[in-house]
Amino acid sequence: MSGSSTGNTGTPSGWGAGATETPAARLRRRFPGFGDLQRRAKWRVARFAYDFVAGGVGDGAPNVAHNRAAMDAVRIVPRYALDVSQVSIATTLFGREYAAPVGVAPMGNIGMVWPQMDAILAASAQKARIPYVSSTVANVGMERLAEIAPDSFWFQLYGLPAENHRLSIDLIRRAEAVGAHALVVTLDVPTRQKRVHDVRNGLVVPFRYRPRTVFDIARAPFWALEMLNKGQPRFENMRKYVGETASIGELAAFVQKNMTTGVTWDDIARFRDIWPRAMALKGIQHPADAERAVALGVDGIWVSNHGGRQFDAAPASIDSVPAIAAAVGGRAKVLYDGSIRSGLDVLRTLAVGADFCFAGRAFAYSVAALGAAGGEHATAAFAEEIRGTFGQAGVLSVAAAAAATVLHPGAMRFDPEGNASGNEVPRRRAG
Ligand SMILES: Cc1cc2nc3c(=O)[nH]c(=O)nc-3n(C[C@H](O)[C@H](O)[C@H](O)COP(=O)(O)O)c2cc1C
Repeated sequence: MSGSSTGNTGTPSGWGAGATETPAARLRRRFPGFGDLQRRAKWRVARFAYDFVAGGVGDGAPNVAHNRAAMDAVRIVPRYALDVSQVSIATTLFGREYAAPVGVAPMGNIGMVWPQMDAILAASAQKARIPYVSSTVANVGMERLAEIAPDSFWFQLYGLPAENHRLSIDLIRRAEAVGAHALVVTLDVPTRQKRVHDVRNGLVVPFRYRPRTVFDIARAPFWALEMLNKGQPRFENMRKYVGETASIGELAAFVQKNMTTGVTWDDIARFRDIWPRAMALKGIQHPADAERAVALGVDGIWVSNHGGRQFDAAPASIDSVPAIAAAVGGRAKVLYDGSIRSGLDVLRTLAVGADFCFAGRAFAYSVAALGAAGGEHATAAFAEEIRGTFGQAGVLSVAAAAAATVLHPGAMRFDPEGNASGNEVPRRRAG
């Protein structure tokens, strides 16, 4: 990653940059935080597309807010009088060295938020030497993305259960052929959920030009022009199955028809058998599921509530980490996503027990706000902030983050039978 400041050798606020300011430094000055990028994205992108990325399940997306509040509640007690001049934020995961402990989470149909976003983020991840996870329903095909990011490319699979998972297995074989370093199987979409704002906004693929959609587009001229130049996004990975000349609508209908029920433990065991490299399961929140995954030989337990997009009653993602990490006990890596918006959030995540984390919206907002420059802006900002925060907290390396003194009031607790305990209501036995 190309971040510059370490908190003790640099100046994140850019003091003295003055006349020699580079374009990248100028962006860092104008958009110092991910909140600035989100505000700019909101202004720049058609409303239905912005709501698609920012929103969650249900009405008003309470689980998105819950993720954020729980993250803010994690406190780290800093340690001082250490030599922080050599802070290292590099780490090894599944046998590969990455320059920082944060990667790009899979985001399907993200080309609707900014055209070619998949390619922009893949290229930035490659340059920054961090993982890039491509979605099954990406808008740039996996063959192309793996070419752009040969050292960073991972593939995320949504199960397509028809014909005994014929297509899921074909997708896995394609991911192997293009050299994906890891396969991520997403568990937390067993059903499709109603996202009220998307329904209200009349969001469909391809866009249907109703008065409200036209109004939204007219208010976002930069986005509209870019969309006009580059074309509406399509589900490129599906072309092989629908036909090279398939229309946007035909590809979308195919996804709608085939992505129905998610995956079962039996499917996961089959995928494990055929996938030769590292495999992670994404969306785990219960220690018993983590245990089952480890027993199947899974290498990564990815704690996530899908960024608050699937189940409003789910615990905040960060609150699930300690119990899962304890259950896994080092037998697999613990990966994390949910409301990572800063280097501090990365440190919080590592401090409560994760080995590596991923961000979704933070990267998406950066590209929506800044276009092609947004990918590198985000990777550089993360690197700078992680290094600065590590130094401030007295954490000298990624491994050392796990030993930080941390207060985590919302952490889920489970009794030996796997029932949630702590300040929850009295439990019946878990089924
Ligand atoms: C627009 C959007 C699309 C997403 N698409 C997928 C997907 O195709 N597959 C998947 O496993 N997760 C998907 N996710 C969930 C992310 O991988 C990740 O779990 C979540 O965004 C993390 O929360 P954060 O956005 O607050 O960082 C999507 C998230 C967003 C915002």
